[in-house]
Amino acid sequence: MAFNIDSLLRDNIKKLTPYSSARDEFQGEASILLDANENAFGSPLPTNYNRYPDPLQGKLKAKISQIKGVPAENIFLGNGSDEAIDLLFRAFCRPGIDNILIVPPTYGMYEVSANIHDVGIKRVPLTPEFQLDLDGIAEAIDENTKLIFICSPNNPTGNSIHRQDIETVLHHFSGLVVVDEAYINFARQKSLTQELAEYQNLVVLQTLSKAWGLAGLRIGMAFADRQIIAIFNKVKAPYNINEVSQELALQALEEVDKINAWIQILVSERDRLAAELLRVPQVAYVYPSDANFLLVKVSDPKGLYKYLVDQGIIIRDRSSVTLCEGCVRITIGTPEENQELLQAFHAYAGSKLR
Ligand SMILES: Cc1ncc(COP(=O)(O)O)c(C=O)c1O
Repeated sequence: MAFNIDSLLRDNIKKLTPYSSARDEFQGEASILLDANENAFGSPLPTNYNRYPDPLQGKLKAKISQIKGVPAENIFLGNGSDEAIDLLFRAFCRPGIDNILIVPPTYGMYEVSANIHDVGIKRVPLTPEFQLDLDGIAEAIDENTKLIFICSPNNPTGNSIHRQDIETVLHHFSGLVVVDEAYINFARQKSLTQELAEYQNLVVLQTLSKAWGLAGLRIGMAFADRQIIAIFNKVKAPYNINEVSQELALQALEEVDKINAWIQILVSERDRLAAELLRVPQVAYVYPSDANFLLVKVSDPKGLYKYLVDQGIIIRDRSSVTLCEGCVRITIGTPEENQELLQAFHAYAGSKLR
């Protein structure tokens, strides 16, 4: 289907003159910087942070571009991928008029962001196999549907969504298809980032918060057509990624081997934990996972949650989520943490016999 970004964009954003920061106007080396009303003396810290950071994070994007095989001009960096989600609403969804489509059970922020921006929500639940209901999606969209969010691997179910189904949606929907790949590093399925040239309406979200172990730095990535990246840059806060985060992320991105080694351990721990949990009588089912967590159906999720909290182990009770009745979500920890979790599960099972 023909994609026309101008017909999607809100009028006020089309007309917007973005804020032009001092660091946008002058880039390069200079001996005296008196253009940004910074503190010229320095910072009361061992390292100086008195200068505003690079608003477009050039060095960081160059490194991410190299790792991901995506040109820097197709990359947006946000204060977590939650910022990219928020900006998509700001730029494309008219409050009180437009709507988005989500496929529950899925990551909760899409719905929260829609509510913040007073944007309608169409819900087309996943099938019992946690895959897309393509007919339901086709029926639900209308001329004001601007965004479809597909999380793959999906949170909280853990499975990947069939790639062919995602491509069907990309082909047939004239709005933006946002594929949230926060957990892609743990998946068997390949990322859609290599398909950007084919689909102008594709936005792929990834994050440094999961496999890269940098949740505290708050760096999310959006990969998309240059036109969409230009809109992100127009709407974002001028200095949305702070200097410390940019510097530390750049350092961390040198450690590809370490991250790959962690991913390998995590994936083998995921398989081990899944097999071991099934030996606990109160565990009814462990869903297949392509992520760094397991969705586990148990006989008494609330009782189990409380028991584990008393042991100092926190998991997520997802039993009130549609299609996840009876389920808890368990993040894969270190091998030692997983062992303690398994012991606690067996102790819980033992306590039920008494
Ligand atoms: C599917 C999904 N997307 C995005 C995020 C948030 O990522 P970030 O830390 O980059 O905001 C999460 C966090 O749990 C998530 O599960």
